[in-house]
Amino acid sequence: GCIAAILPAAGSGQRFGSDRNKLFAMLRGKPIWFHAASRLAARPEVGRMVMSISEQDEADFRGPFAELVTELRIELVRGGDQRSDSVRAGLDAVANDKSIEFIAIHDAARPLVRDADLAAVFTKAAETGAAILAAPVTATLKRKLDDGNASRTVDRSELYSALTPQVFRLDVLRRAYDRDRGRPATDDAQLVERIGHPVALVHGSADNLKITHPEDLRIAEAILAR
Ligand code: CTP
Ligand code: MG
Repeated sequence: GCIAAILPAAGSGQRFGSDRNKLFAMLRGKPIWFHAASRLAARPEVGRMVMSISEQDEADFRGPFAELVTELRIELVRGGDQRSDSVRAGLDAVANDKSIEFIAIHDAARPLVRDADLAAVFTKAAETGAAILAAPVTATLKRKLDDGNASRTVDRSELYSALTPQVFRLDVLRRAYDRDRGRPATDDAQLVERIGHPVALVHGSADNLKITHPEDLRIAEAILAR
């Protein structure tokens, strides 16, 4: 089945601390969002590209970035205050497209997702209806006990960090979002878990970092240079 990619890009990048959206920061001569989008657009399974943007950034996407937007055949939609509102806006744009069977939600702030990881998570989603990229946790994790004067080491062997893309059958994601009453969720998979649909974890490279702080851009540059 054909996949629609939804790229939430409507944040403001508070933690990055620049005077404009962090996604406009350049990596090898191209903005961060373009790297993320072009990796999705390069996959043969992806038939539509939708990116949620804020009102504030509209002039940039329709002005200086218009050629890059057109090059990847990206449809721009208006995002919302929360990331989930931005995903919902993308979902509304493709909801009536009968040719779309799956949705791949990918943070525009993750420019380094590997092609092999995309292939793997798409395949798993086709088998199960819901699959996300996830990286094994490498840190030694502690649980604080009582007042913090005692702690225990948490077994990390079954713990993963959620990455994107998160890929769902359109009807599954639609149900999850319809059921959602604005309860806070930290990713789309959590909404799908809540309707009782299992979400498979697909091992993804830790290179697929989210650009959050300025240091992350330096790390991304180093990864691209290697
Ligand atoms: N995003 C979005 N709509 C929002 C908030 C976030 O589309 N209301 C997008 C961001 O543009 C980003 C992705 O969701 O591509 C992941 O969010 P995050 O890394 O937190 O980006 P920001 O929210 O922009 O950054 P910050 O939280 O530091 O302000
Ligand atoms: Mg944010």
